[in-house]
Parts: sequence; structure tokens; C-alpha cells
Amino acid sequence: MKGVILAGGKGTRLSPLTKATNKILLPVYDRPMVYYPIETIVRAGVHSIIIVSAKEHAGNFINLLGSGKEFGAKIEYTVQDEPKGVAQALSVARDFVDGDDVLLNLGDNIVLDDISKDVRSFTGGAMVFLKKVKNPSAFGVPVFNGKKIIAIEEKPKNPKSSYAVTGLYLYDNTVFDKIKRLKPSARGEIEITDVNNLYINEGTLRYSFLKKEWSDAGTFDSLFETSEMMRRIINAKRRR
Ligand code: TTP
Repeated sequence: MKGVILAGGKGTRLSPLTKATNKILLPVYDRPMVYYPIETIVRAGVHSIIIVSAKEHAGNFINLLGSGKEFGAKIEYTVQDEPKGVAQALSVARDFVDGDDVLLNLGDNIVLDDISKDVRSFTGGAMVFLKKVKNPSAFGVPVFNGKKIIAIEEKPKNPKSSYAVTGLYLYDNTVFDKIKRLKPSARGEIEITDVNNLYINEGTLRYSFLKKEWSDAGTFDSLFETSEMMRRIINAKRRR
């Protein structure tokens, strides 16, 4: 299994914070956001990681993270030339993944769960991680038939469940051929939701629920709330 962290994208919702730097280098309370996806991947038992960013920011990631030794990981770096979508950014990591399975963590998704069991028992197909949210319309939302996910709808006006598909995914290596088959969406991006729907059509998408707190730090309010969340969690740990 290889780990992929995505740090491309425009970060338009956080402008002007993202005018001169990358969203994933912004602070979440006492550390840069990118520390969280690295820790999530290492906690899952995966130690070989690549960070995909835009060319303007790749050097900053290298300055901050170096070889990854500090995290108990080996970190490599590559570039997505244009922000053509999450799935397109993942496809840039194909050579690095080199036939293995992939643990994908979107750089702005803070996951505190230990998913090492899911990683160890992964036998192919795909796995998504769900979290109950108050505003599902802002996310990819699973449609259930009984206990089975029959589709994932991207930012639906009328969500058919109260769960978000979070930015943490397990894929087998067929993900790269699946991405090649996809056409850009109405907003001109190759969408990760379309990738997940291909796995659903194939009958190989499974899911798990995140038990701990989760955050997508891509807006002013969610970035602010994520800092507050981590301040609370870190200080509670210190007091113990
Ligand atoms: P988004 O939050 O969907 O997009 P964004 O980061 O460009 O922000 P905004 O919508 O405010 O413009 O991206 C989710 C994650 O995926 C984020 O960590 C950046 C990454 N990403 C890429 O690596 N390449 C891309 O082409 C896109 C769109 C996102």
C-alpha cells in the first residue's frame, strides 16, 4: 500500500489566504495542516507517501517535510501541472504507486481515526469512509438501499442520506485505468465521486464509518472550527 496526499487545487474558497501559499501549509492550531494527513497515513501503517502539489508550492513542501524521517515515513513529491480535479491529481501518482494499492488522503481532510485494520484487511475494490454531518449538501453523499451504497451524489440539493463521503479512500490499482475512462464534469474537473461510482457499478465499493471527529478544512469557517477542534483535543490530551 502507498499513501497519496493531494495538495494541488486552487483553494479559491480560502483566498486571499491561499494567494501566496498552499491551503495545506496553512496553520491548524499549532501545526501546518499537512501534518494531519501524514499522521493519518502513518497511523494506518503506510510509510511510503507522495505529496502531489502545484509547481509553485512543491519547494515549500520539501522545505517543511524533507525526507519524512521526522514522521517515520519516506516522503516523495510530484507536481500536478493544472488543477484538473482530485481524480486527475491522483493519476499523477501512478508511477510512484507502481502497481500497489493506494491510501488517498485529501490534504485538507483531518482524520483522527486509526484505519490500520481496514488497510490490513483490504483485498481490492475501493473503500470510502463516511461521517454523519449537518450539511451533507456540501459533500459527496451516499445513497443507500438497505445497507448497500447504490450511488454517491456530488453536492446534491436534496441529499438522500445524512452522511458525507470524507476525503480518505482506499483503492486497488485499477483506480488508474478507471480515472482514464472518465470525462471532465460540468466544472471541468475529473471527479473522485465519478471514480467511486465506477466501483459501485462494479459492485466492489465498501464503506466504513469514522468514529472520531473529522473535518474538511477548505472554507474560512471550517478552517477556523478545525483549529478550535484540534486546540480542544490537544489540550485535553496534555491535561491527561
Ligand atoms: P477542493 O477543496 O475540492 O478544491 P481546492 O483545494 O482547489 O479548493 P477550492 O474549491 O476552494 O478552490 O480540493 C480538495 C483537495 O484536493 C484539496 O486538498 C486539494 C486537492 N486537489 C488537487 O490536488 N488537485 C485538484 O485539481 C483539485 C481540484 C483539488
